[in-house]
Amino acid sequence: MRLDLDDWEREALERLDPMAGDYYRSGARSEATLAENRAAFARVRLRHRVLVDVSQRSTATTLLGHRVPFPVVVAPTAFHKLAHPEGEAATARGTPTLFTLSTLSNTAIEEVVPAAGCPVLFQLYVYKDRGACRALVDRVVAAGAKAIVLTADAAILGMRKRDVRNRFRLPPGLAMPNVSGAQLGTAATDSALATWVRDSLDPSLGWRGLEWLAGIAGVPIVLKGVVRGDDARRAVEHGVAAVQVSNHGGRQLDGGIATLDALPDVAEAADGRCEVWLDGGVRSGTDVLKALARGANAVAVGRPALWGLTLGGAEGVSEVLELLRAELDEAMALAGCPDLASIDASLLA
Ligand SMILES: Cc1cc2nc3c(=O)[nH]c(=O)nc-3n(C[C@H](O)[C@H](O)[C@H](O)COP(=O)(O)O)c2cc1C
Repeated sequence: MRLDLDDWEREALERLDPMAGDYYRSGARSEATLAENRAAFARVRLRHRVLVDVSQRSTATTLLGHRVPFPVVVAPTAFHKLAHPEGEAATARGTPTLFTLSTLSNTAIEEVVPAAGCPVLFQLYVYKDRGACRALVDRVVAAGAKAIVLTADAAILGMRKRDVRNRFRLPPGLAMPNVSGAQLGTAATDSALATWVRDSLDPSLGWRGLEWLAGIAGVPIVLKGVVRGDDARRAVEHGVAAVQVSNHGGRQLDGGIATLDALPDVAEAADGRCEVWLDGGVRSGTDVLKALARGANAVAVGRPALWGLTLGGAEGVSEVLELLRAELDEAMALAGCPDLASIDASLLA
């Protein structure tokens, strides 16, 4: 019986090929930030309200102009066909809110959008070759991507010890069809992914890079990887629709602040001028409640969707997200919050 997301994780890691399981669960270096994302949620305690009429409750909201039944988005994660043969098409089909497709997916955007039961956002890494990058942006927007999620915390790839030890690479037959010509099939001295990132992505991308992207995208931009108020303020000045407070699930800068701890500064800087999303360590409905109480409009989950996909394809993803929805609904009822608007900082001890 799977009662919570820890049950899903345990079982998925038993099912997955060890190289894939290690790739999914790893954090950078000592994994201090990976652990800190969870620890920050555990440190926060809630102060419920009493005698509130919670007989009618709603978890619905609007994100980037799209009505969603609850504020839990699927974060971009690479290589879903390591988990399930239907890959990203299944994950998107199982998502009732918003699904973010990674640049590094094993399924082309043209296949994912029609399969999805929800709006699809496209996560972008900016290449050294701006012509190729522009062609990719045009391609994903033409395919129906509703926003570009620019990942800004991956100038280079964080070092994940398990991937280096495993010489992580994609098994034969799996490709990266959003990225023309790219294969990760060769074992290098370190992980093949780190080599690809070093060769292809642009570590000189600055705020001018965001300006460039905003000029060509024609769809809303979400800036992902922000953990500071000053960066959030600059992002707002550049017209982003949302900032996603994220440390890449603890996979980039080891020793980095937990996203829940970074959130208040970012939310204050955004000051309602753009949406604020948070990802990293969200594993329960009370985690969602805590993030919303600290100022997030929505949270995103990375690994939990992969555990769902591993164990049940689209159905598994849908069950994992439904679990989070039901837990959020329960937490709201017990905290005295009939709707998302009634969730505020006064709930935090
Ligand atoms: C296996 C894996 C692959 C990821 N791939 C990407 C990616 O391609 N692009 C990206 O922006 N973030 C990527 N991320 C980071 C996620 O978008 C997200 O920030 C993180 O998973 C949230 O933490 P959580 O897994 O604790 O929910 C990846 C994370 C994992 C675990």
